[in-house]
Parts: sequence; structure tokens; C-alpha cells
Amino acid sequence: MTSHGSRQVKELAGKIALVTGGAVRVGRAIALGLARQGADVAIGYHRSAAAARATADDLRALGVRAAALRADIARPAEARRLVSETVRRLGRLDILVNNAAVFVRTPLAETTPAQWEHLMGVNLGGAFFCSQAAARAMGRRGGRIINIADVGAVRAWPAYIPYGVSKAGLVMLTRGLAAALAPRIQVNAVGPGVVLLPEGFPKASRERLSARIPMGRHGDPDDVAAAVCFFATCPDYVTGQILFVDGGATAM
Ligand SMILES: NC(=O)c1ccc[n+]([C@@H]2O[C@H](COP(=O)([O-])OP(=O)(O)OC[C@H]3O[C@@H](n4cnc5c(N)ncnc54)[C@H](OP(=O)(O)O)[C@@H]3O)[C@@H](O)[C@H]2O)c1
Repeated sequence: MTSHGSRQVKELAGKIALVTGGAVRVGRAIALGLARQGADVAIGYHRSAAAARATADDLRALGVRAAALRADIARPAEARRLVSETVRRLGRLDILVNNAAVFVRTPLAETTPAQWEHLMGVNLGGAFFCSQAAARAMGRRGGRIINIADVGAVRAWPAYIPYGVSKAGLVMLTRGLAAALAPRIQVNAVGPGVVLLPEGFPKASRERLSARIPMGRHGDPDDVAAAVCFFATCPDYVTGQILFVDGGATAM
């Protein structure tokens, strides 16, 4: 929000956004962040139906329109339908945030073909087919696509190779789409470091992770939301970029 004297300007007023995986955790923070800037927001969900309804209510309480839409984005037809339903319910699409992902520990010797396909299907295929449909839906008006990558796109984690590969692919998807969709659509990525650990993550491991971050602590989902809002509002000459929100982790 920009302040002009006592008046607060909501920079995304009148814009329509879709956040995949927007019901819970980081996606929910992104959806709320966009709504605080005035955007109407559709959230995509897969299994979290009750949380999606609750998040949609919280979005409406901020004074914007909201829709909770179910889709398994690993299925290209459902990814496309998620975009067309957003347009049907909210009238248009200006901003797509590809946030939905799966994060699974997959040591090399134990990884199954099904795990590989699932990780690629959601993290990369879902983002690709949502973006393909969004590019069509945005039409000549143009818009913004913002991908949620990860520090793991550029740092190797031996027990999470398929996840890292999917996020590295998302970085190249960001660059490829930026080149293919210019000048009408700007495509950028946010690369979070640790902002929200899985529930029950051991305290000792949590502290070990923090010790390796120059800022000495984990980030917050709202840090990611702020970076997404930046890409949603920044000059259109910024495209094809990756902004790491990681407390300096990738600087080392
Ligand atoms: N948490 C962190 O510290 C962190 C760090 C770096 C990067 N990131 C990235 O930030 C994003 C959000 O992270 P998070 O921790 O909030 O993730 P999360 O808790 O694992 O949530 C993932 C979201 O993806 C959705 N999803 C999973 N499979 C899906 C499918 N087949 N179809 C549609 N939606 C599907 C889930 O929807 P349902 O719940 O409705 O099934 C959920 O909303 C991810 O891209 C993640 O890689 C997170």
C-alpha cells in the first residue's frame, strides 16, 4: 500500500489474481497479501477444501471478491479449467501466481517413478499448463505471471533431487515464458529460503538451519507475499527475473 498523505492507495485495486495452492500456508499469505493491495483473488486448492473456504471468507473480509476453486493441477485439463473458472467467476485474469507444489523427501536409491512423475507433474507441469491457459486468458490486455521457486533451484539437497530439479525447471520456465510472452506479460519468480517449516519439524534441525542463514533466522510467509506484490506492481521492464527471499542464504 502506498500512502499519499492520509490516503492509502491500494495498488492492485480492480486487478484479478489466481493463486494456486492458495488455501494454506505460504499460498494463503500470498492471497491475503494481494487482497490487502485491493486485488480480487481466486485460490486454487486440491485437498484442503475446508481451509480454502475459510481463506476465501478471510479474503472477502478484506473487502475484495474471492473464489475457492478445486483442481488437481498435475492434470493439464484441470489446470486449464482452473484458469477458465477464474475468468468465469471473477470476470478476467490479470495475475497468476504459480505457488502450488509438492515437497517430498526422495533419497536417490528409494525414489520411485511415481514420485518423480508426481513432483514434476505438480511443480512444473502444473505451472506450465496454468501459465499456458493464463497467457491465453490475459489476451491483449496482458498481465503478470509469478512463479514460486525455491533456494533449492540453485542449491543441491541430496535427499530432495527431484524437488530441486522441478524448481530449477521452474526458473527456466520463468525465463522462457518471459521471452515468449513479452511485451504483453511479465514473468518473474520468487525464490524463498526457509519461511515455513513442515509441522513437527524437529527443533534441533530448525536451529541448525537457522545457523546457516546470514540473517540468523527463518523468513516469514509474508516476506514471500511482499515479493509477489512487488512483481505484481513493479515496472513492466522487469521480466524474467528471480528474486531470492532467503535471508542471504544464496549469497554464501
Ligand atoms: N515453506 C517454505 O519454507 C518454502 C520454502 C521455499 C519454497 N517454498 C515454495 O513455496 C510454495 C508454498 O510452500 P508451502 O510450504 O506453503 O507448501 P505446502 O504447505 O506444501 O502447500 C502446497 C500447496 O500446493 C497445493 N497442491 C499440492 N498438490 C497439488 C495438486 N496436485 N493440485 C493442486 N494443488 C496442489 C496444496 O493444495 P491442497 O492443500 O489444497 O491440497 C497446497 O496448497 C511452494 O511452491 C514451495 O515449493 C516454500
